[in-house]
Amino acid sequence: MEVLTTTAAWRDRLDAARASGRSVGLVPTMGALHAGHESLVVRARAECDVTAVSIFVNPLQFGDPADLERYPRTLDADLELLAGHGVDAVFAPGVAEMYPDWPEAPSTVVRVGAEAAPFEGASRPGHFEGVATVVAKLFALSGRCRAYFGEKDFQQLAVVRRMASDLGFAVEIVGCPTVREPDGLALSSRNVRLSAEERRAAAVLWRALTSAQVAVASGERRPSAVATLMASVVGSEPLVALDYGAVVDARDLRVPAVLDGHRPLRLLIAAEVGPVRLIDNAPAEVALRSARRDALPGLVGVATGA
Ligand code: PAJ
Repeated sequence: MEVLTTTAAWRDRLDAARASGRSVGLVPTMGALHAGHESLVVRARAECDVTAVSIFVNPLQFGDPADLERYPRTLDADLELLAGHGVDAVFAPGVAEMYPDWPEAPSTVVRVGAEAAPFEGASRPGHFEGVATVVAKLFALSGRCRAYFGEKDFQQLAVVRRMASDLGFAVEIVGCPTVREPDGLALSSRNVRLSAEERRAAAVLWRALTSAQVAVASGERRPSAVATLMASVVGSEPLVALDYGAVVDARDLRVPAVLDGHRPLRLLIAAEVGPVRLIDNAPAEVALRSARRDALPGLVGVATGA
């Protein structure tokens, strides 16, 4: 496994791979790797000839300097894990390599639009601009490839898809399912900062998501009622403070007027658990019977037997 630290070496490495006819799978990360990251690497390896992983704690996407400072850095363990998965090349640049003017931000950044405004965008101003800027730079340096992102960060996936399409990168974005602990907690590099009590309490996010899934599948049509349900499930856990819980159209992250069978739905949740902010999400499906009633209004009597 080659570990490269300069943008020039990274560009050359992946250009050479493509020149010899091999496809490239890129997995962008900030390190502190866990089984969630590993699932992306395994998928990239299965689908591409050359597996390329970037490890860069991107200061541009952290609003709070203390949060950046606290972010876990475990490069040696990360490299060992990636070597064990047969990764071909790792890009681990320093901040000065990616942002030569740092601590001044680069002059050119990516402005993000409507997908980035609500939820995480509202809670963390500038976050998605920082994500889109570093991912655009990684795409520009890496060239034609498939790039693997986790659904765990569902809004980030939407922002990256839109950015890649708007800016015309030759990158196919692949979204991968969230890897969870047995109690449903989504794996996250931030979980290590939870105390034992907080770790137990954090599973309430998954309980809120699954309760909302059941409500939608059982015919609940009002987005506000689904949000209220998620808030009440989280409210039962004193160590957890809800930031938002919502059901949105999975394509544009807007809250629909009514939940029907016409659009893919996604449940989004964010909460503070002690000192740690956690996010999670899950799909939701409207019950087939009520979905069919919407799609074929002329068949109401037939579909429902009413
Ligand atoms: P990071 O938090 O390190 O995550 C890297 C990738 O791993 C992201 O695509 C994320 O969605 C995915 N991931 C994290 N936890 C996961 C889980 N439990 N299951 C499946 N996938 C999971 O996301 C970032 O880094 C950064 O914002 C980055 C895109 C690298 C830009 O700096």
